[in-house]
Amino acid sequence: MNMLNRLLIAVAGAAALAGPALAAEEAHAPEPHTWAFEGPFGQYDKQALQRGFQVYQQVCSVCHALDFMSLRNLGEEGGPFYDPEYPNPNDNPIVRAIAAEYMITDGPDEFGEMFERAGRPADDFPHPYPNERAASAANGGAIPPNLSLIVKARSGGAEYIRSLLLGYGEEVPEDVNVRPGQYYNPYFPGGVLAMPPQLYEGLVEYADGTEATPEQMAHDVTAFLAWASEPHMEARKSMGFMVLIYLFIVCVLVWLAYRQVWSRVQH
Ligand code: HEC
Repeated sequence: MNMLNRLLIAVAGAAALAGPALAAEEAHAPEPHTWAFEGPFGQYDKQALQRGFQVYQQVCSVCHALDFMSLRNLGEEGGPFYDPEYPNPNDNPIVRAIAAEYMITDGPDEFGEMFERAGRPADDFPHPYPNERAASAANGGAIPPNLSLIVKARSGGAEYIRSLLLGYGEEVPEDVNVRPGQYYNPYFPGGVLAMPPQLYEGLVEYADGTEATPEQMAHDVTAFLAWASEPHMEARKSMGFMVLIYLFIVCVLVWLAYRQVWSRVQH
């Protein structure tokens, strides 16, 4: 048996093993969906990011944190409120207005007291709960995970998050036991989770007038979370593209030099 045959058999064997393993997992496969940020030239759709931020802010942030992110990230290049007129997001009026809506606990002041003040772009996104115990006590024992890396952290990525948000309301199969404070969602591994259904018709009133259907909100908030998990994707892709152009030019130069060097040699 030659090497190639062995390799083919090994690949076929691996595929056969993977098949039943996937089938045994109960969760539904995420629904396929098209995103503006897919592919080597994909970019974030700024309007969707802005709407998605609105959904996060008005709905999800009640329970979910956005760790590792500060409000100024919203106005950075590639972010939802980036404005080339304000390369420093701390000066961006929209970001400043958004930040000012938050009350931040700061201190201690010169008397050793903590105090409240309006938010600034340099502040982190505020946490919904003071600590994990409070988070789990408020959610029937489950802790709402940090959402800033969730699109990267879950297999299925953006499609999984979108499917999960829209995946409530299906009939509960007989072999699934849904206890009080739990909800059935076939896209969640195991099928039962502590997050109640979130999205219903008209839940938010979009600033840009887009109709807030559950599908629209799921798309927008997932796009926003995809941006949060990779805010520098656009820069990375354009850098990759420049590198390819550079390598192409180098290839052509090397080839021309090769021809030049060997031009006087008889073959
Ligand atoms: C009332 C509180 C609450 C709100 C509001 C809420 N969630 Fe959750 N969410 C939870 C809890 C609790 C969990 C953990 C569920 C579990 O592990 O059983 C969770 C889990 C999740 C997960 C992780 C699922 C996984 O694979 O582990 C995602 C993603 C998520 N929420 C997204 C959202 C989004 C997006 C919004 C806003 C549209 C939102 N949530 C609003 C409470 C909430």
